[in-house]
This record gives sequence, structure tokens and C-alpha cells, in this order.
Amino acid sequence: MKELHIDLKFHFCDLQELDAADRLLVQSACEMTATSYSPYSHFQVGAAIRLKDGQVFRGSNQENAVFPVGLCAERTAFFAASASAPGVPPVAIAIAAQTCGTFTAKPVTPCGSCRQALLEAETRFNQPIRVLLYGTEGVYIVPSVKSLLPLTFDGSEIA
Ligand code: THU
Repeated sequence: MKELHIDLKFHFCDLQELDAADRLLVQSACEMTATSYSPYSHFQVGAAIRLKDGQVFRGSNQENAVFPVGLCAERTAFFAASASAPGVPPVAIAIAAQTCGTFTAKPVTPCGSCRQALLEAETRFNQPIRVLLYGTEGVYIVPSVKSLLPLTFDGSEIA
């Protein structure tokens, strides 16, 4: 039996260390937490996605009394981008979350469904999407969605 390893290399830095475009993207994600509709979880998530041509689309989590009907901030932002600028690849997404009126200390990380949705754009455009995860302790910078979803199912096996 062989043991196989999958490594995840990513960076952790202060918000101020990001370049201007990425810092703005994170700030946008932070702002968007204010638009969250989350009366059930009280977890306010904001996301902002930047496309290759510089356009930025933003979203926040939108909940519903029928829980599965709601949508995460990341997919709200990503689907808005995809619907408005269908041929333009995303290059970066930032995510932030507040709970009880304060931003999380640890960077917030996207759920599996959001990773899967974003992965398809990465695959389709052959363009990594940098993932910027904000917490008050610092920002994780992950180089691609694929690196957050190892042993990915990307549909390439379907005949
Ligand atoms: N949520 C997001 O919007 N993004 C994440 O990355 C994690 C979870 C939302 C879904 C739900 O509205 C609430 O946070 C609690 O799970």
C-alpha cells in the first residue's frame, strides 16, 4: 500500500500587506456582510469576486425559512458575475463574515458547495481563482479553488 500526500501551500498576512486591488476586494466583502439576510443563523457573510477585466461583483448570504433554499455569499456573488459577464473569467474572490456584530477572528472558509461551484469556473476558463479569506487575525491567501478541493470531481470523466 502506498501513502499519497496532498499539500496545501497558502499565505497568511495582514490586510495592509495585500496589494491595493486585493485589499479593496476584501474590504468589499467586509462591507457586504451588512447586506446579509440571515435571521436564522445570525452569521453574516459577504463576498466579492473580481473578474479578469477588473469588474467586481458582490454578494451576501440570503437565507430562507426553508433552510436549503438559502444561498451562500460566495455563490450569490459568483452567479451574479457569471450572469452579468458570462465570458469573463474570475481571478479572485474575497470572503468575510460577522457574528454577534463582530468580524470573525479566524478567516472564514467557503463551504464545499461553493468550492465546487467556483471550481467549475476555474476549470472552464483554465484560470486559477485566488481565494482571500478574511479574519481579524489576518487574511489567508489560497492560490486556487482547486487547492481547496483536492481529489476534485470536475466532470472530465463523463463520457
Ligand atoms: N455561509 C456562507 O454564506 N458562506 C460560507 O462560506 C459559509 C456559510 C452562510 C450560509 C448560511 O446562511 C450561514 O452562513 C450559516 O451557515
